[in-house]
Order: sequence, then C-alpha cells, then structure tokens
Amino acid sequence: MVPLVKVPILGKESIHVGYNISGNIISTIINHCKSSTYVIVNDDNILKVPYFQEFSENFESSLPDDARVLKYVVTPGEASKNRHTKEEIEDYLLNEGCTRDTVIIAVGGGVIGDMLGFVASTFMRGVRVVQVPTTLLSMVDSSIGGKTAVDTELGKNFIGAFWQPEFVLVDIKWLESLPKREFINGIAEVIKTACIWNADEFQRLENNANAFLDVVNNQKKIKVENKNTGKIDEISNTNIELILEHTYKLVLESIKVKAEVVSADERESSLRNLLNFGHTIGHAYEAILTPQALHGECVSIGMIKEAELSRYWGILSPTQVVRLTKILSAYGLPISPDEKWFKELTINKETPLDTLLSKMSIDKKNDGSKKKSVILESIGKCYGKSAHVVSDEDLRFILTDEALVYPFTASENKKDLVITPPGSKSISNRALILASLGEGTCRIKNLLHSDDTKHMLKAVEDLKGAKISYEDNGDTVVVQGFGGSLEACEEPLYLGNAGTAARFLTTLAALVNPTSKNDYVVLTGNARMQQRPIGPLVDSLRTNGSEIEYLKNEGCLPLKIDSKTSFKGGRIELAATVSSQYVSSILMCAPYAQEPVTLALMGGKPISQLYVDMTIKMMEKFGIKVTKSETEPFTYLIPKGKYVNPEEYVIESDASSATYPLAFAAMTGITVTVPNIGSESLQGDARFAIDVLKPMGCTVVQTATSTRVTGPAVGSLKPLNHVDMEPMTDAFLTACVVAAIAHDNDPNSENKTVIEGIANQRVKECNRIEAMATQLAKFGVNTKELPDGIEVYGLDNIEDLQLPKSVHSYDDHRVAMSFSLLAGMVNYNAKETSSPVKILERHCTGKTWPGWWDILHTELGAKLDGSVPSSSTTVDSKKSVVIIGMRAAGKTTISKWCASALGYKLIDLDDYFEEIHGNQTVKEFVNQNSWEDFRKEETRIFKDLISKHGNDGYVFSSGGGLVESPEAREALKIFAADDGIVLHLHRDIEETIVFLQSDPTRPAYVEEIRDVWNKREGWYNECSNFEFFAPHCSSETEFQNLRRIFDKYINKIMGNVVLGIPKQRSSFVCLTFEDLFEEVDNLALITAGCDAVEVRIDHLANYEPAFISKQLSILRIATDGLPIIFTIRTKKQGGKFPDEVYESMRHLFTLALKSGIDFIDMELTLPTDVQYHILNRKGHTKIIGSHHDFSGEYSWDDSEWETRYNQALSLDVDIIKFVGSALKFEDNLLLETFRNNHKAKPLIAINMRELGKISRVLNPILTPITSELLPNAAAPGQLTLREINKIYSTLGGFSPLNFYVVGSPIGHSRSPILHNTGYEILGLPHKFDKFETDSIEKVKSELLDGESNLGGLAVTIPLKLEIMKYLNDLTPAASTIGAINTIIPLGNGKFLGDNTDWLGIKNAFASNGVPENVNGAAGLVIGAGGTSRAAIYALHIMGCSKIYLLNRTATKLPSLKASFPENFNIIILNSVSDIEKEAKNIGVAVSCIPADKPIDIDLLGRLERFLSNGIHASFKPTLLEAAYKPAITPIMRLSKDKYKWETIPGSHLLVHQGVAQFERWTGFRAPFDPIFRAVTKD
Ligand SMILES: NC(=O)c1ccc[n+]([C@@H]2O[C@H](COP(=O)([O-])OP(=O)(O)OC[C@H]3O[C@@H](n4cnc5c(N)ncnc54)[C@H](O)[C@@H]3O)[C@@H](O)[C@H]2O)c1
Ligand SMILES: [Zn+2]
Repeated sequence: MVPLVKVPILGKESIHVGYNISGNIISTIINHCKSSTYVIVNDDNILKVPYFQEFSENFESSLPDDARVLKYVVTPGEASKNRHTKEEIEDYLLNEGCTRDTVIIAVGGGVIGDMLGFVASTFMRGVRVVQVPTTLLSMVDSSIGGKTAVDTELGKNFIGAFWQPEFVLVDIKWLESLPKREFINGIAEVIKTACIWNADEFQRLENNANAFLDVVNNQKKIKVENKNTGKIDEISNTNIELILEHTYKLVLESIKVKAEVVSADERESSLRNLLNFGHTIGHAYEAILTPQALHGECVSIGMIKEAELSRYWGILSPTQVVRLTKILSAYGLPISPDEKWFKELTINKETPLDTLLSKMSIDKKNDGSKKKSVILESIGKCYGKSAHVVSDEDLRFILTDEALVYPFTASENKKDLVITPPGSKSISNRALILASLGEGTCRIKNLLHSDDTKHMLKAVEDLKGAKISYEDNGDTVVVQGFGGSLEACEEPLYLGNAGTAARFLTTLAALVNPTSKNDYVVLTGNARMQQRPIGPLVDSLRTNGSEIEYLKNEGCLPLKIDSKTSFKGGRIELAATVSSQYVSSILMCAPYAQEPVTLALMGGKPISQLYVDMTIKMMEKFGIKVTKSETEPFTYLIPKGKYVNPEEYVIESDASSATYPLAFAAMTGITVTVPNIGSESLQGDARFAIDVLKPMGCTVVQTATSTRVTGPAVGSLKPLNHVDMEPMTDAFLTACVVAAIAHDNDPNSENKTVIEGIANQRVKECNRIEAMATQLAKFGVNTKELPDGIEVYGLDNIEDLQLPKSVHSYDDHRVAMSFSLLAGMVNYNAKETSSPVKILERHCTGKTWPGWWDILHTELGAKLDGSVPSSSTTVDSKKSVVIIGMRAAGKTTISKWCASALGYKLIDLDDYFEEIHGNQTVKEFVNQNSWEDFRKEETRIFKDLISKHGNDGYVFSSGGGLVESPEAREALKIFAADDGIVLHLHRDIEETIVFLQSDPTRPAYVEEIRDVWNKREGWYNECSNFEFFAPHCSSETEFQNLRRIFDKYINKIMGNVVLGIPKQRSSFVCLTFEDLFEEVDNLALITAGCDAVEVRIDHLANYEPAFISKQLSILRIATDGLPIIFTIRTKKQGGKFPDEVYESMRHLFTLALKSGIDFIDMELTLPTDVQYHILNRKGHTKIIGSHHDFSGEYSWDDSEWETRYNQALSLDVDIIKFVGSALKFEDNLLLETFRNNHKAKPLIAINMRELGKISRVLNPILTPITSELLPNAAAPGQLTLREINKIYSTLGGFSPLNFYVVGSPIGHSRSPILHNTGYEILGLPHKFDKFETDSIEKVKSELLDGESNLGGLAVTIPLKLEIMKYLNDLTPAASTIGAINTIIPLGNGKFLGDNTDWLGIKNAFASNGVPENVNGAAGLVIGAGGTSRAAIYALHIMGCSKIYLLNRTATKLPSLKASFPENFNIIILNSVSDIEKEAKNIGVAVSCIPADKPIDIDLLGRLERFLSNGIHASFKPTLLEAAYKPAITPIMRLSKDKYKWETIPGSHLLVHQGVAQFERWTGFRAPFDPIFRAVTKD
C-alpha cells in the first residue's frame, strides 16, 4: 500500500494524495472546513460508482448534528460546463437557503471541478470549495492551481476566475472505475509535466509504460447495483492495484511539479505557462476535433509537433523527439492526427492548416495575435523560463507534409560547416551485438534508433547478457556487457518486423545457457516477420549441433532454440549467396563457440562482401581478429575469445545520408565537413565525395575518418562523363541533382552525366530511376533512362532551372532529400522571390533522417515554409471512375453516360487492349496465348492506366472478368481507398440471363453465367466502393429516366451536387411497404409535395442485398430522384428489424452508402462500432441520428434526452431526430421548450400518439408524414402534409397570400389553375387570380403598394421589361436575360425580380432525357423575342459550347447577341451554305417562334440544315417547343419525322416554368404530376 502524502501549494499543505482514503477525506472536510451546509456535487456517472455511494453515505453519517448535506447531480460531459448549468446550480443553492458559510464538495472530473470552482468563486461573493478529483486528468491538472471556468459557444473556458480550493483530496481509488480512454487521456498531462520539468520521472514513466497499458487494456465492464435506487448500472473496472505504486507515483510527481510551478507564478505571468507545452498546437486540433477527440489526445499530438518545432529550431535533439513519440504511443496516445485509429475515432474530420492557424491565434495565453509555444531543450527541461513567440511560417512548416523550399542564399557566416548525419544503421546494429557480448562498459554514441536496435536492446537485457542505460538524455547508450554470459528467459523474444535483429539474434540465442527454470529461447515476430526467410542460417547452426525447431512455418520465425546444447564451433558451412546478414550473425558469435570457428561460405562470391568486411573490421575494434583462410576461398578463421569493450564507440554516420550536406556544399560553393566518415569507412557511399563530387569540380579532402567538401563557384560544376555507382547505389539520386546543374563551358556540349550500375534502384521504395527522370523533367532537366542507369543532361545555366508546380517524393526519403537540394537552386540568383519549390510528403525523410529538414533550415540556413496540402487546393485533380460488373450489366451505355455527365474521357479497356495489341481482338489474343496470359496482360494494362490517369478525369469501362485477377483486385481496392471511384454496375441476374440468351452475337458463356456470377459477386463487392443497380428498361422513356437518375447519382457521389439540409418547413413521407415494385404507379403521388422519402428497410419483405438494391432503384426512378432516407428501425426502437443482429445490419448500411443514399437514419442506441462504421464511410450521405421513446418513459425535461443530444453531437450527425410520446397535451409544450434550447444542429422533434399531433405541425424541418394513398400510417398520430399545412394555417402559421398573373391579354393564362391546384393538394391557404392590365402604374399602385397580402406576381407581356423600374433587386438570371416574369416580395415594400422561363426550359429538357449538363454539345435558338433570351440563358447554363441563333430576318440578331456576355459563344449564321459548313454537333434546340402560322420557307430551309446536324451521341438531339398550342407544332413534326429528333411540347415548358415559380414563392416542392394533368386537361 502507498502512504498518504501532503503536498504544499501556495504555502499551505492543502493537497492530499493517497489510496482508499475516503475516511481521511471526510474527516478533513468536517474538521477543517466547518460549516452548516455541505453541498456534494457530482455527475451521473459518478453516481453509479459504489465507492461514491459509500462515500456519500459515510459523509452524511459523520456529520455533526448542526450540519446538513445537500446533493446535486449534473449531466456528464463538457456540454454541461456552461453558464446555463452554472445558473441552475446557483438557483438550487439559493432555493435551499445556502449562505456564505456553505462548503461545496466537487466530486468528479475537470468539468465538475472547473464549474463548481467557478460557482464557488462568485456565489455570495465567494464560498469555500473542496476538490475531490476522480479522473486522472483532474487529479494531476485541473484540480490543482485554482483556475476555474465555464465554456461559451465562442470558446472553451472563456468565462472564469482564479479561486483556490480549501483542499484538493486525491484518492487514487477513484481511477478504478474510470473508462480506459479517460484514463489514457489523463496520462498526456502526466507525460507533459515530466517532459518539461522532471527527467527522472520521465524515465520512470518510460520503464513502466508496458505494464500500465497491459493493465488498462484489460479493463472490464462490470454490472453494479445502485444502493439507493436499486437500478443496475454498467461501469468500468480496472485492477488498479496491479499498478498502484506506479500510478500513485505518477500522480504524486505531477502534482508536485504543478504545485511548485503554481506557487511560483499563480496568475500565469511566465513560469506557469510552461505547463502549456503541447497546448498551443494541441488546442488548435482540439478546437476542430472536439468533441470526438479528448483534450489529452490532442495535447499528445501537440507535444510531438511542438517538440518537432523545438528540433526545427535546432534546440532539441532528434533522439529526444523520438523518445517523446515512443512514450506517448506506448501509453496508447495518438502521435499524429493521421493515425488510422485516431482518424476513425474523429470520424475523418479534416484539420486544414488555415483553420489550425486561426484557432491558435485566439489562444488565451497569446499576446494579441502573436502565437507562442513552449520550446523544449531536452526531456525534463524547457528552453527559457517562458513560452516563445513562433512565426506562422515555422508553424506552417511543422504542421504540414508539404515543404516549401525558398532559394538558398549565400551567407557569410555559413561558409564552413560541420554536419554529423545520423548513425549508420548497419554499424549501429553490429555495435550493439558486439558490445553486449563484450566485457566492460561501452558508451555508444550517435546510435541510430530503429526498430532493429530497439528489439536487440530489449533482447540482450531479457537474456541477461548486458545492462543497458542511457546518458546525455538518451543520446548515449551505455552497454555494460557481461562477456557473453547469457541466460534463457521465459517469455518469447518478440522482434516485430525487425529483420536484422532476427538474424543477428538467432546465432546469439544459440549461445544462451539454460537456467533451472528454462532451457530454451523462443524468437518470434509479427505476421510479416513470420514469412521472412531464415532457413540457411538455421540449417548451418543445426549442422553445427544446435537444436532449433520451427514452431510454425518451415524456414521462418518463430524459432525454438534449445539451450542445453551448446554452440560447438569448428568448421561451419554457410550458403552465403542469399544474405550477408547470416554471415555476420555467425561471425560475431563465433568467438564464443567451444572450439575456434572456420566459417566457409559456399556457393561462390558472397552477396554484399562489403558488409562482411564491415563486420570483421568492427570485431577487430572489439578485440577479436578474424583471418582469411589462405587455402580456401571465402573462408574465415575466428579464434576463441571475448570481446573487450572500448570505453566509447562513436557510430559512423550513415554515408548515404552524408551525401546530402556534401552535395549542398558542392552546389552552393561552401565547405561542409562530415567529421566521422573517411577513407577508412566500410560504407560504399563514403566514396561519393571522391568518386563523384571531386571530378565534378569540388575540392575534397578526405582523411581516414573525415570528409570535407568545398564546392566551386555557384553554377560551375562539371558533368561526369561516366560513373559506375554500383558500390554506392543509394547515392545516385544525389548525384543526379548535382548533375542537373553541371555543365561544360562548351555551348555545343550536352552536359551529359552517365550513371550506371544502379539497376537495383528500380526496386527500392519506388522505381527510383523513373522517379528521378520524371521529377527532374519538372525542373526542365532532360534525362534518359538506361536499363541499369540514367543519363542526366545538365543545364547550361542554373537560371534555366524551371519552377516545378510540385515535386513528388514517392514516399521515398532519398527522393525527398535529393530534391530538397535542387529546389533551393531554383531562382538562386534572383534578388527576391515569392515562388518557392513545393516538395510533397516531406515527412518520408523520417525513415533515415527525421532531422534533415531541421539541418537544412538551421545549419545550412535554408528558408522553409509549409503549404496547404494540395489535395484540398487543387481543383484540377479529377478522380477517375472505374466501372466494373458483369457483362450485359450495361457497362458500355452507362460508362458513356458517366463520361458525359462528368465531362470525362472514356476508355473501354477491351477496346484499349485491342488497340495496343495491333488490333488483335481479345479472342484472338486468347487463342494465340491463353486466358491466363490475357488476364495478366489485362491487369498490367489496367494498372498502368490508373497509375497514369487515376487523377485525370477518365472513365474506365472494364471487362467483366477484370476482378478474376487477384492483382487487379488489389489495384482496384487501392484505387478506391485513395478516393477513386470503383463503381459496381449490376442488374438482376435473371434478367441478365434472359437478355444474354436472346442475343445471338454473344458467344457460349450463357450456360455458366450464373456460376460466373456466383464466383464474381463477392469480388465485385469487395473491390467497389460504389454500386449502381440498372434495371431493365422496356421503353425509351424508361431508358431516359434511368439516365437522369444515373446523372444525379454520379454527380452526387462525386460531390458535384451536394444535398443541403432543408432550412424551411419540409417533410418526408414514410413508406412501410413490403415490396415497392407493387406500388410503382402510386409512388409519385404519395410523395407529392415532400422533400424526401423514407424507406423503412425493416418493413421490406426480405433483407437480401439484391432485393434491397432493386427496391432503392425502383424508388429512385419512380420519384425522379427524390432524396431517400434509408431507415432500419429495430424492434427496440419500434420497428421490425431484429435486435442485435448487427452483422447483417452493417451489410445493409454498407449497401446504402455504396448506393449513394442521401440520408441514413442511424439509431443512437446502436453499438458504437456500428455507428463508427457508418460515420467513417459516409461520404456525401447525411446522417440522421435518431432516438425513439415509444413507451413514453421519458418526459422532455428528462436528462435522457440531454444525454442523447450530447451523444448525437459527439457523433457529429447531420440531423438529430427525437421522437417522444405525448401522454398528456402539455408534453408538447415541454417538447417546444426542448426544441428552443437545442439549436446546435438541425433537429426533428415530435411526439407520437394522438395527443402529440400538434408537435408534427410545429416541427419545422423534415416532418415525417403519411399519405392518403398509404394503407396505414407508419407511426401513431402521423398526419398528411395537407393536414399539417391546414392546421398550421388555421393556427396562423401561414397567412393566406394572394398571387396574380399580370399583363394583357391573359384571358387564356393557365397560371391560376396551375398554382391553385398546387395550393389545394398541399393544403396551402393561398389564392391565385388574374389581373388583366397593360399599365405598370396600375400594377404598382394596386398590387405592389396596394395589396397587403401579396404573395407574388407572374408577369407577362407587355410588362416584362417596364415593371423592372419598380423592383429593388434582380436575380442574376433576370438581369442577364433582361426581362422578368416573377416578382417576389422581400418585405418592407421591397421586391425582387426573377425570371423562371429559363428554368422551365432547362427542367423540361432534363425531364425528357437530356442530361443536366450537355457537355459541350451545341445549341440552337429559333426566334428573337423574349423567350429566345431565356432560351439562350438556359442553353448556356446547360453547358452548350456554342449557341446558334436563327430567325426569319437577321436584323434583330446582332443586337440580341451583343446583349449577352462573350463567353456564351453566340453565333449567327446567315446563309444555308454557312450553316452547312460550320454548324456542328447540335444537341438541343428551342423553338421560340409563333406556331399558329406556317413557317417561313426561307427560315425552314435554314432550319433543316441545322436539324440535319443533330448529334446522336450520348443522348438524342432534342427540340423543345415554346409555343403551347397546338400540341404538336409543324416544327416538332418536321424534327421528329424527318430528322429523328426527340421533341418536347410547349406544355412541358409552361408547367415547369410555373412549378419553378411555385417553389420559389411557397418554399414547397410542387406536386408535378397532378399539376401537369390539371393544366393540360383540355
Ligand atoms: N482548471 C484547469 O486548470 C484545467 C486543466 C485541464 C483541464 N481542465 C478542464 O477539465 C475538463 C476535462 O476534465 P476531465 O477529463 O476530467 O473530464 P470530465 O469531467 O468530463 O470527466 C470525463 C468522464 O469521466 C467520467 N468520470 C469521471 N470520474 C469518473 C470515475 N471515477 N469513474 C467513472 N467515470 C468517471 C465523467 O462522468 C466523464 O464522463 C475540461 O473542461 C477542461 O477544460 C481544466
Ligand atoms: Zn491540458
């Protein structure tokens, strides 16, 4: 057990820390805070904890007679920490008669502590408060120091006070019930505190991380009974006693630091702001990611970034950043906002750079707009005694993965630099093994910290072979070796995926001695490691007598190595042509064999001889001399002996890394010395300076152990005719960028540098040869790829270097580092430049040199900045679409539609295949080769295409069998994961079979088609991220409807058309049919006037995916793409879907998301993982978080709703839907109060049952409704839209409005019938009349000024122009068209003029098979009157590339053309021959000439020329008639019969135009079909 300790703060020992000390807490309060009234305040979660119930009971029973205790409970969560709750608490205290002697006891986390501290600070001008923190965060942070506050909408903790508590009583026992995530959350502050102040504690925390996470990960959920209420609750339970010492210590140490700092600087004038380490950046993330991410999680990310900033400034060493990163992740905290689990937890919210920066500038601790950050000097110590001002430039650099490199500048004081790159990996690994086997203490410096070294260090410690400690803050590793004595350990040695460690340790394990408990060692690793080969090494050890067993797969880890047999030695043979690491492994352990070893390498020259030499040379440094056999080739003699550890061993820097600073010297003409790599080095890349830089014109001085390069004057490097870089392949990238600016002084020279011997570089992190060629080209540098090399043609002058748009790093550290050098040479001589070079994915240098950018910045003096990630800024990236699916699913047609709707280019993969195979057909190819070859080739072509054109706006229509190849499936999945669209197109399989059977041109195949489908269905599903069901179309109209639906679909899933959430009164009808197929004909009417339609999946006849897809498709087509709400209502929530069958539910939701459903209803009671499954894949789908209280258990003021509301906010749903039950009429009033107080998100809130009907009338958006045409309502009390509107009008919600059509003559106007029909159907109280006049003055005085209930005016001839002078504003459409037909009152006697004629034209086309966007087809407008103007505007909006004008006489046309903007591309062609020659690709035409007279002969002749140029491409050329009578006009007849155009009668335009007006005036979606019928009745 741990003692109770008192910690002083501000001169008083008021902090108590202990375990299980509730007795002490009670007595402390009662004895030292005497009062007549104690108020215990806590939240609902604490109330559930038995330890609290006991505490509260004991407190009460310990009170003296003259004192009382009051208890107050708050809704848990940050959302409660506001002024409103504070007020409620104050009112409670006042009502209970609390006075100045009251003592508030705040039992809870930071929310309770902060808020009650603040209440105490102002209640009666200040009362006493005692803090009893129950979360780790509140124990170590929020309860200490007296800062109190509440949040406001505008920011956290904005209103508060300093108010010191009487006591802070910290009882570790509370942590027992703290949920895991909260526990880990608190650790962030603990690590922060140690990090800024206490290095020893930091190290202790490092050592105990694993034990801690083990215990916390094993947390359980337990059920407990509430003593007072008898209710059963579920709470978390951690076996805290297992880590009691550690937890107690970490709490205590943190508290001590905070108390010390606060005592020195209570009001945060300087020192105290050190506690904000990690908070400047952390808060910015928190502001965006809250409430999904917790404070500590964001601070964890903030600490890493701020530590990186400290390193960037050259203050903190890279190893310290690594330590910090490691410890945070070891305690389960996120270290980057991009970590997968963290991204999912925060529902993939973006954290844009600009937002982060703007959030930082309002941080309280900043002076004005300056941003400040705490800078670390080392672990446990800050740089300076306060925070430092940081520039935006530096912050941007730290926060993004895109570096901006400004031109390097020559600086006088940076002419002679010493740079030490990180240690060599190979040398680090070897040094650790040697020192561990050696005798004595060795201080290893410049060690590269990698996975390999980490696992090796742990393994030699576990085997008791050495003692490891650290000095210089971890920069020096101290190995105290025990001379090769090793003991078998119980636990398997886990090596992750560290390959070198596995190989080196295998022989080492053979040296281990048994103990009384263990006589073998197990080496194991992760899944990948368990596939990597180790066979040849094991074979030779076995032959030498060691007993080694494969525990799983032959030839791979895990291995069981027996310790009873010893390593014999003598002659050992080893196949060494596979890996030199086997050789090194045996060499290093050989001195400890029982007999001297003769190691014979079989199979010829060993691979990487250099590495073998390196091992031998290093062994010599540790006192063992290996000799080569004089008789046998590739054979080594190793004497028996013990390594003697040198006192210090400095790991040579990595020679590949060293090429960058040396090349920097070469390019900029300064001197750089690398102090620990010289001619003696065994690393091949150490030759780079001598073999490459020197012949290029640098002065190179290389000693045995150092290299010094001085570059020539800038711009005077010389090309290198030929260099074989085989011994230093990794350095060729550096050589390329140097060669890019190397030239002869001969204007005829090609300045060619030829590099060879680097074939292996094609299979590194990327194809590096190709990568260099591609990226160099962006700088204007030409290259030529060779099979095993590259030719670089240097520029004559560095001023010829071009500024690339951005440089790709291919996630390859060497590519990034090389180009960071060339980047600084662009505009080198320019005086000033604002155009830096952007390098993408700069963090990839972390693989070998995380600090490279810091060195470039601080040591080499480069000006760097960060840039906003290009994905969010470049609009020119167009993600391509891949369409997959069975043959006969309609891929060809739909791919065309897709390309046309998006304006993409189309490639049919089969056609493309034939094209690049010299027009050999697929069939011929298969016959000549094999199916297998075809699949291979098809896959190759496909991968090539998407890698080249994945972002270029293509539609790829694939062959049905593409998914047969595993490699193609992999490629599809990667493409989809990278935001590409893989669209699975499918149709009913039975229909497909019928279709294929009826088609004689399709070969055999038909028989097996079902088998093929069964085989592929799963593949299509797993590879696609979207799917579209294409039903069979039996008529042209159905076909065109399908096209329209598809257009909407594809634009929606691409995010081109974003569905808004209605802001006005709106509704959705709820369908509870078993099969929509049977209701097809009614669906349009049922949904009349609604804004969405809900399909209750739980009511459908079955839940088969194929059935559901079909249902959704039927609904979409029947309602013309009305937004769909996809709802699976569980039984618990009043539906039919079985409870707790989450797997099939998850599938259905996936299907909905893939189908691009508009809304998903997500029950808030679903398990969190199902919810996150939906939220993380939601794309453009909007989520409705719903909760139903069917039984009427909760009144609207019950905290249940509050909690659900907060839950919905934290899930960040788009809409919240709460359905309660009205047991009495007043429940509706409570609901309205709730509605009023909850405006953070769009809210649908209603009461079920008869008594609740009024709530449906009062609910503003998306009210669920029923229809007379439905057999029964989906929920008790549901109303129709008409009923709702009528009641709402009766109650005065809608005031009746009067509308008029004005103009003359208007005797035949259809407007009144059109609008009045709509009002009638929707139950609106409005009236529409005619007002015949040709005087605008009359309209002004009698209607605009005189009609107080004016709803709007439809304006027709002759007033369309003149009336404008009485309007206050025009819509863009009205002003471009230059006429108005619609007047909308704006209130206060102001009016807006609009023109809906163009909308009528556009919508009439759209509902008759013309795509929303005609993508460059040309348009034709016949006539030159007012309607023509609207037609021109409409065609322009529809995407016509050119608009031709045609009229009987040409006189009016030029002025018509001139009145529109240039970019409308209006063209007047006068003669028949001109038309014949120039008019091309006409897709749409609008006839705006009177139709009651015969057509002028001359006009007709010209018109026919146009019509004959109709383009029959992805849609039929279509003519819209503007004249309403007769129903079929001569022009229509001509177009249709003679030229096979589609035609649309004038009634369509009329109704669409009127409907558009209706919707603008009323805000309701008009019921189109009944209106159309009414208007066209006679
Ligand atoms: N005043 C300061 O100096 C300071 C410093 C840091 C943070 N804060 C504030 O602290 C607040 C965050 O504090 P927090 O992280 O403690 O959050 P919190 O108070 O919301 O508690 C976290 C969750 O754990 C539950 N809980 C608390 N103790 C429990 C226990 N023993 N067993 C089971 N469940 C328990 C709570 O009900 C809550 O759901 C923020 O508002 C922050 O602004 C203040
Ligand atoms: Zn904090």
